[in-house]
Amino acid sequence: MALMCRLIAGSLLALSLQSVPAAAQYPNKPITVIVPFAAGGPTDVVARLVGDHMSRTLGQTLVVENVGGAGGTLGMIRAVQAQPDGYTIAVGNMGTQSAAPALYPNLKYDPAKSFAQVGIVNYTPQAIVAKKDTAAKTLKEFIDYLKAHNTKLTYGHAGVGSISHVSGLVFNAKFGLTPNLVPYRGTGPAIRDLVGGVIDYMVDQSLNVIPQIQAGTIKVYAIAAPERLSSLPDVPTTGEGGVDFIFSAWNAMVAPKGTPKEIVAMLADALGKALDDPTIQKRYVELGSSAPKSAERGPAGLQKLVESEVARITPVIKAAGVTAESQ
Ligand code: MLT
Repeated sequence: MALMCRLIAGSLLALSLQSVPAAAQYPNKPITVIVPFAAGGPTDVVARLVGDHMSRTLGQTLVVENVGGAGGTLGMIRAVQAQPDGYTIAVGNMGTQSAAPALYPNLKYDPAKSFAQVGIVNYTPQAIVAKKDTAAKTLKEFIDYLKAHNTKLTYGHAGVGSISHVSGLVFNAKFGLTPNLVPYRGTGPAIRDLVGGVIDYMVDQSLNVIPQIQAGTIKVYAIAAPERLSSLPDVPTTGEGGVDFIFSAWNAMVAPKGTPKEIVAMLADALGKALDDPTIQKRYVELGSSAPKSAERGPAGLQKLVESEVARITPVIKAAGVTAESQ
């Protein structure tokens, strides 16, 4: 019995000696942030924005690595399989962290169980946008146009399970629309093709489309939120346009499961400091985004959001009868 106690005490001491110095010295080299979509898109923009601030708090550079493909799931698989030492983290989104399991039955991660949650990064409503020369003037006219030309039209998205894919699925199903779906590695390149008139329309994060709307290179019909955005005061909400369609996106920072708690806490604290910075808050407002309230921040807030979003979105996808293969 005495020997057993000594062995247990010895193992506990060894464990604490392993994790305490790792956290005490953290971070002593650059941290890789996997962005599971193409550069220049909404996840990339927000990851670089908060990552730059976090670099200053942590005293080490956060280096973004874009690993796009399969609606962001390829990048998140890379993150889940990385060493849980705090030197590889990821910024996923509502698609990768809540919609993907319903679309990929053999997905190699469970958003609620396979990660050490760090925190919610931002919320952003979706916007209904079309190529610049689309003639419709109002949301109702636009929907009539979509119905009239249906299968001749193209809808761009960031891969099966991405936010633009799922929000488009819900929007298109609502009006019986079956456009040709064009997948990209992120909505950064998809928006470039919308500007170029290569694709016809998208439902995409306001964060990604506001610069183009302001530049007049694409047309916007509505913001899918209960309130107008202060950065687009003249753009009506879907409700004002007479359509019942609200869709809010979010981004989340995660680390591989097993990352020491002290390190996760340091990352969450650095993320919180970024979210409190007035410069970042101003940029969020310009991009139509908002930061999580204090009570929603940190690992517990994100865990709660992931669980509730998986529960909310899974039946919507199942009801649409869609899988990755059918898209
Ligand atoms: C991106 O960063 O490209 C987007 O967040 C993709 C999406 O989920 O629609």
